[in-house]
Amino acid sequence: MSKPHEDDDDYESIEGRVFFQEMHGRKINLINPTYLLPADEDESKRFNLMHRLIRFIFNGRIYVGPTKEVLQFGPYRQALDLGTGRGEWAVELCEEFSWVFTTGVDIVPIQYLEVPERCRFEMWDINIHHMPYTDGCFDLVHARAVLTGIRNYPHFLGQIGRILRPGGLVLLIEPSLMQYAGLANNKPEAAYTSGSGPRGWFTLWETYRRCLSMLGVDVTVPQHLKDLLEGTRLFEDIQDFKATIPVGFYHENKGILTVGQLQWMAYDLLLPALKPMFMSLGMLESRADRIIKDAQTDLYYGNSDFKLASHMHIVHARRNSIPWS
Ligand SMILES: C[S@@+](CC[C@H](N)C(=O)[O-])C[C@H]1O[C@@H](n2cnc3c(N)ncnc32)[C@H](O)[C@@H]1O
Repeated sequence: MSKPHEDDDDYESIEGRVFFQEMHGRKINLINPTYLLPADEDESKRFNLMHRLIRFIFNGRIYVGPTKEVLQFGPYRQALDLGTGRGEWAVELCEEFSWVFTTGVDIVPIQYLEVPERCRFEMWDINIHHMPYTDGCFDLVHARAVLTGIRNYPHFLGQIGRILRPGGLVLLIEPSLMQYAGLANNKPEAAYTSGSGPRGWFTLWETYRRCLSMLGVDVTVPQHLKDLLEGTRLFEDIQDFKATIPVGFYHENKGILTVGQLQWMAYDLLLPALKPMFMSLGMLESRADRIIKDAQTDLYYGNSDFKLASHMHIVHARRNSIPWS
């Protein structure tokens, strides 16, 4: 597998299309004004950390649920990865299932340049009203950590229902935008209440959620994925799971400790990545720097009474046989 496009001097413009703009010191996509997280080397590192974290919580796999079942009985099966990022999931699925063709979609060309012949990448905005595929043409649709670029998640799910064949599988994975404190000294996990715990950490997350809401993102989607799938009436066998992810180096179980380390490293990269979003929504640079620095202090030095934790929401469901209309 070759390196992603970022190392290519000429990546800014492909066939005359320009994909990036410089915003407050980071490279941001030009196509989707809702998605204000960077598209640069540090963000690619963060995607890779999250990819590895999810492999840990899926016991070494990149999928859960009846994925093998929907992909069996080839000879050709089609999978789609919406908001593919570096394209790791799309490439690895191809490598694991030698009869599967995968398509990865993103707004920026940051994918690997050399990939299996059965894997291809397309550039378009998945907020589009009508995804450019015929009804029922995919066996599997995967969308992981894309919520922050989606303006109308129920419509997005409706389009996934349209392009999945009856019996096809959707797999959605979204990190919660809420953060939790607890786990230390056997205290039960609890959502932060004002005035307690690592204030800098929670102020940053409140600010992040407020910015996303201003950009038109429904920040409550992760915890409601199952209800939203049910609301489309296009899915059955809907299964949802919530993984609690420790943030940092404190868990006694070795496997979970690794998950906590990966999450900590990913958040270390996320914090400065939020600055362009904060500033482009009108925040003064000094205030953005202060919010990020206070959150970094809580992340780096912690607090003996409070341990940080986050949630990962995972849902899979089969397309039912009700025609799409
Ligand atoms: C947090 S990354 C996750 C990448 C990948 N799914 C993964 O889990 O490694 C979100 C990705 O979604 C892409 N994205 C965000 N909004 C999008 C949109 N409306 N259409 C297409 N891609 C989008 C971003 O460019 C970014 O690569």
